[in-house]
Amino acid sequence: MKFFIDTANIEEIKEANELGVISGVTTNPSLVAKEGRDFIEVIKEIAEIVDGPISAEVISEDHEGMVQEARKLAGIHKNIVIKIPMTAEGLKAVKILSKEGIKTNVTLIFSANQALLAARAGATYVSPFIGRLDDISSDGMKLIEDIAQIFKTYDIKTEIIAASVRHPVHVLTAAKLGAHIATVPYKVIMQMIKHPLTDAGIERFKEDWAKANLKI
Ligand code: E4P
Repeated sequence: MKFFIDTANIEEIKEANELGVISGVTTNPSLVAKEGRDFIEVIKEIAEIVDGPISAEVISEDHEGMVQEARKLAGIHKNIVIKIPMTAEGLKAVKILSKEGIKTNVTLIFSANQALLAARAGATYVSPFIGRLDDISSDGMKLIEDIAQIFKTYDIKTEIIAASVRHPVHVLTAAKLGAHIATVPYKVIMQMIKHPLTDAGIERFKEDWAKANLKI
């Protein structure tokens, strides 16, 4: 499973990119709004940092508007992927954009049927939102499992991005269930790095080394 970072914060993206573990970025209107900066500028800056798919979301609700915005965003950089909400208008936009060779990430997926429809419309990626399902006492992981099974059965090439990730167990389970990608907030990437036994091990090595008065 590959990792994308789920943020529009430039510092977080730079930091995660230096770790060598991320191969793409996802943003959404809320994440961009949090930065209080010009949308296009933020996307351009991200594209200069990460050499991989960068999702930028459209705001229009009709397919003509979505397609117009998508063409503008896709023109920014070759790596831009257009995030389209899972609606009937969204599917029409995905169909048009896929014919034009513009990659899409169908977002706000909460059922396997929605994922299947998005794939059939030509989506490059689908983004099932695990955390938001868990929030309403539904089973986000079951959704990943169902989509992975259906896509495998029908040899569907659309990639599954496990989204709305809240903690490292979400990442682990999504990987085991066959999600192609997890888009992970910076905080969760940092949580995944840490283990108390790693910290304790480093401390013990340092102490033993100092006691023996060794040098490199
Ligand atoms: C995915 O692409 C979305 O940006 C994101 O994962 C949404 O997560 P949230 O439910 O924590 O807002």
